[in-house]
Amino acid sequence: MAKTTEIAPNIYRISVFDQQGDLQFNHFLVKDDEPLLFHTGLRGMHAEIREAVSKLINVADLRHISFSHFESDECGALNDWLGAAPKADVICSQVGARVCVNDFIGREARPLADGESFSTGKFRFRYCQTPHLPHGWDAGVLFEETEKTLLCSDLFHQTGDREPITPHDVVGRAAEAMRGYQAGILAEYVPYTPLTAQNLKKLAALQPKTLAIMHGSSFTGDCARALDDLNVMYREIFGREKRAGASG
Ligand SMILES: [Fe+2]
Ligand SMILES: [Fe+2]
Repeated sequence: MAKTTEIAPNIYRISVFDQQGDLQFNHFLVKDDEPLLFHTGLRGMHAEIREAVSKLINVADLRHISFSHFESDECGALNDWLGAAPKADVICSQVGARVCVNDFIGREARPLADGESFSTGKFRFRYCQTPHLPHGWDAGVLFEETEKTLLCSDLFHQTGDREPITPHDVVGRAAEAMRGYQAGILAEYVPYTPLTAQNLKKLAALQPKTLAIMHGSSFTGDCARALDDLNVMYREIFGREKRAGASG
């Protein structure tokens, strides 16, 4: 059964633990005049997540659905949600709308450019384009400017059934998960490109107070430092070819 926790004022983490994959899938519902859902979840989890959302809002009142990149856990159940909440718009990157989403939903998404913002009532969200971070040409994240919550998708991915939110180190946990994945079919989770450090610096400059993380615990504490540390960890694990070349 999905577990719901308010991780920041009016931001609810709806978590489903997949025992087989030893992985939590977290979906974030922002309660405001115009409710927003970040991550639709997998189609196979839709009934469970929708039931959890229905305890927080009337599902038909959902006005915004957003996600980082085109992948099943990010947006697999998008059409199911649009069926239940026809007034909702779909907020994604411009490239995401063009190459994946418009065709998938059979209507126009609402593409946002980097830095573009919108209000849901009390809250104001800024779209941050982060190509290939965590992965995907179309990737981006959403930053809520009032309470300073960064909806950061697969960044800080941790395995296991974790507590909803922690003030403790999540980079170490993410490093352990990434190292474990390097040995199997989930290897090369994050492409370390020339843009990676730049994207993570841009997110750190927002000075978030809370990181709303898709897999594992959310984090509260020095988020700018965590984002800087995440860059170092990604470079060590995924940037090794480039470093080897640079050192001759
Ligand atoms: Fe992903
Ligand atoms: Fe994910």
